[in-house]
Amino acid sequence: MTRAVMPGSFDPVTYGHLDVIERASDLFEDLIIAVVENPAKCCLFSLQERVGFLVGTVNHLANVRVDTFSGLLVAYMQSARVRVIVRGLRVATDFEYELQMALMNHELFAEVETVFLPSSHRYSFLSSSLVKEVALHGGSVTAFVPGQVEEVLKRKISAERG
Ligand code: PNS
Repeated sequence: MTRAVMPGSFDPVTYGHLDVIERASDLFEDLIIAVVENPAKCCLFSLQERVGFLVGTVNHLANVRVDTFSGLLVAYMQSARVRVIVRGLRVATDFEYELQMALMNHELFAEVETVFLPSSHRYSFLSSSLVKEVALHGGSVTAFVPGQVEEVLKRKISAERG
């Protein structure tokens, strides 16, 4: 198999992401986790924080590296010489959005193919947004995100509360 890119906001990385990353790293020789800079979309965590969490989370996987991109994903893929996108699919509602993105990316750059990996059932409910919501309301996110993420998340929330 070849190299692949797994793009995303990763705001923040969850155990659901990690599950897909680990399985994709088994399927591809090289896997790039590409964190979108996302200037238009407001993220709780800075780009540096999101990258730092990911680096700390995937450092046991020798064929995985973390990079950043801005602008079109396909432009990044052309410069990084990669033509396969990996995306995790959790629930049926993910599919419509993911299919649209896959078709648009293929339209923009015909060599691009998207591979969908179903998330493990134990993470099928998990999203970065829900993790932030649970943490914001004082719930425990220990089961959902790496310890370093949980720590910074708690600190950020209590700093925002003042
Ligand atoms: O984790 P997310 O937020 O679901 O990831 C979405 C992401 C980053 C993969 C998507 O928004 C993206 O590729 N953005 C880059 C801009 C782009 O290429 N848009 C056209 C995609 S069809």
